[in-house]
Amino acid sequence: MEPSFSLKTLLTISLFLFFITPQSSLALKLPFHPQDLLPLLPRQVSWPILNRLNGAVDLLPTFVGAASASNDTGDWKGACFYENRAWMEFHNKTGSEFGGGTLHLKVIRMWIFGVLGFIEVVGFGIWILNVLDFSVELKLVRVWKKSLWGLSWVKISTFGDMVSEAHSWTCMDIYVFATPYHVTWDYYLLSREHTLEFKEWESKAEYEYVKNWGVSIFLMHAGMLGTLQALWDVFPLFTNTGWGESSNIGFLKKHMGATFEQRPQPWATNISVDDIHSGDFLVLSKIRGRWGGFETLEKWVSGAYAGHSAVCLRDSEGKLWVGESGNENEQGEDVIAVLPWDEWWDYELNKDNSNPHIALLPLHPDVRAKFNETAAWEYALSMKGRPYGYHNLIFSWIDTLDGNYPPPLDAHVVASFMTVWNHIQPEYAANMWNEALNKRLGTQGLDLPDILVEVEKRGSSFGKLLTIPEQDDWLYTDGKSTSCIAFVLEMYKEAGLFDPIASSVQVTEFTIKDAYTLRFFENNSSRLPKWCNDGDDVKLPFCQIKGRYRMELPEYNIMDPYPHMNERCPSLPPKYFRTQSC
Ligand SMILES: *[C@@H]1O[C@H](CO)[C@@H](O)[C@H](O)[C@H]1NC(C)=O
Ligand SMILES: *[C@@H]1O[C@H](CO)[C@@H](O)[C@H](O)[C@H]1NC(C)=O
Ligand SMILES: *[C@@H]1O[C@H](CO)[C@@H](O)[C@H](O)[C@H]1NC(C)=O
Ligand SMILES: *[C@@H]1O[C@H](CO)[C@@H](O)[C@H](O)[C@H]1NC(C)=O
Ligand SMILES: *[C@@H]1O[C@H](CO)[C@@H](O)[C@H](O)[C@H]1NC(C)=O
Ligand SMILES: *[C@@H]1O[C@H](CO)[C@@H](O)[C@H](O)[C@H]1NC(C)=O
Repeated sequence: MEPSFSLKTLLTISLFLFFITPQSSLALKLPFHPQDLLPLLPRQVSWPILNRLNGAVDLLPTFVGAASASNDTGDWKGACFYENRAWMEFHNKTGSEFGGGTLHLKVIRMWIFGVLGFIEVVGFGIWILNVLDFSVELKLVRVWKKSLWGLSWVKISTFGDMVSEAHSWTCMDIYVFATPYHVTWDYYLLSREHTLEFKEWESKAEYEYVKNWGVSIFLMHAGMLGTLQALWDVFPLFTNTGWGESSNIGFLKKHMGATFEQRPQPWATNISVDDIHSGDFLVLSKIRGRWGGFETLEKWVSGAYAGHSAVCLRDSEGKLWVGESGNENEQGEDVIAVLPWDEWWDYELNKDNSNPHIALLPLHPDVRAKFNETAAWEYALSMKGRPYGYHNLIFSWIDTLDGNYPPPLDAHVVASFMTVWNHIQPEYAANMWNEALNKRLGTQGLDLPDILVEVEKRGSSFGKLLTIPEQDDWLYTDGKSTSCIAFVLEMYKEAGLFDPIASSVQVTEFTIKDAYTLRFFENNSSRLPKWCNDGDDVKLPFCQIKGRYRMELPEYNIMDPYPHMNERCPSLPPKYFRTQSC
């Protein structure tokens, strides 16, 4: 299916993989089985800043500082360790060229957290049992949930203010430590000075890096149980069940204010293909299964009410086609495809098990008059068969230094996440972002660690590097890179819809929401096709052609394109406030 999730999603997933991928040494240290957790990963969707407990946000590590040789890494508060300090000591125990180092971490906890820690360990044990034997799942989960309730009760009733100074309900602090070349993790239950050994620095570059900038320390601020609980909370979003569907709906209602009102039957429109024209835009919203979960995540971070998109094209004989980036081919790869309408529509009606909701957004007649079909076809055929655009996925999201990361996410976390990914899937990482990062630096073939080192050398920061806008004409080793929405908009650009400012618009910076807010679509409801919203008592400004729930596209069709549109936009949930002409 289509990887309709955007870069934001990938990040999230990577963080997950952080914990579950079997090849990574850190995952090996974890007590759960990767397969059990895999489906959980992506819905880190929850960055519910509002929900302190059970938030997917609990799955994100927080950057607390870097430990270098001078021990000035200030205090930070863990979940239950109220005073923490860290410093690095270099040594040469193995007699290797660059030596190694010991990271000292001094943690001091309040006694009361010892008690809570014990309860947490019990909960953790239950989780492990649960994961090892799925058949006991329900019963144990109930027990587990109960013990959590008990914990909450303990907090509220007994310790009140005192405990609220701790940053979470649970009491085992998990830390992640990263250099550009290494990522590892550890957890602490007891107060004392802990050490973490780096036997040998991998290279002179790592040695120099650690000497100058230290080892980055991240805290899983929810502690062990909070982290696992958040995983559990995220899990159902990805299951292909009624439960999964209602989790997705519940999530979108709660965090985006989506309404999901039921429509009258029929839920699929009897379309007359003659009324669909070249350039008409298709937006899809999937709410079930793997893709449902991914899209939920994407919608939440980007503020879009749809998670996938495609475009209609008519050929010279009048036959209708659909162009789609993210169509799964027979080998199971996501590629760019141009399919006959009937084949596409039949798949969506009968074979797509993600319960897709689909809307057709017809172009405004004036815009359609501008649409150069020849140029659109040339573009579509030049892209056909190319892989889905993973390279630049993340960059349409990150436009600013601090306006795109829901806390506790930040550029440090992105860097460590990428580092982990780089270890787990070196080839895929090169494919995913190393190339795009090299383009931003103006370098070629640098590996991720080299990129991180190079950025610091230039006196810049990784955070700044991420904000550099993608350019539509950047050519990657597998060609131009387009996600589902970049493919549609690039076609619009080729077909002349962004004229006369086309050369100063980078469509790879657009999200799906940015696309449907463009003032490109029919605004006179009496010109919509007769079958449009036929049978529904609410007349939408666009044509919903499939789905049990009524789709909504807030701010549909209101924004004229302008040069450098969407290159510097903040996007923070829950309001997704967009600054003027960003
Ligand atoms: C770090 O600080 C502690 C106490 O503040 C001191 O005893 C220790 O020597 C310092 N370590 C280094 C490497 O400066
Ligand atoms: C560590 O010891 C080895 C052998 O004694 C030496 O060749 C190397 O230069 C030392 N490395 C550092 C960083 O001191
Ligand atoms: C769909 O509409 C066509 C004519 O527009 C009609 O012939 C056909 O019976 C309709 N199909 C259904 C299932 O209503
Ligand atoms: C449409 O695009 C084709 C191919 O790019 C070009 O040759 C043609 O002149 C364009 N037509 C108009 C009306 O601009
Ligand atoms: C909307 O379209 C109808 C039919 O084409 C036309 O009669 C009417 O004037 C249009 N309304 C506006 C406001 O353009
Ligand atoms: C639709 O937009 C055009 C300009 O693009 C405007 O002139 C017209 O009044 C609008 N029609 C409606 C019904 O809003």
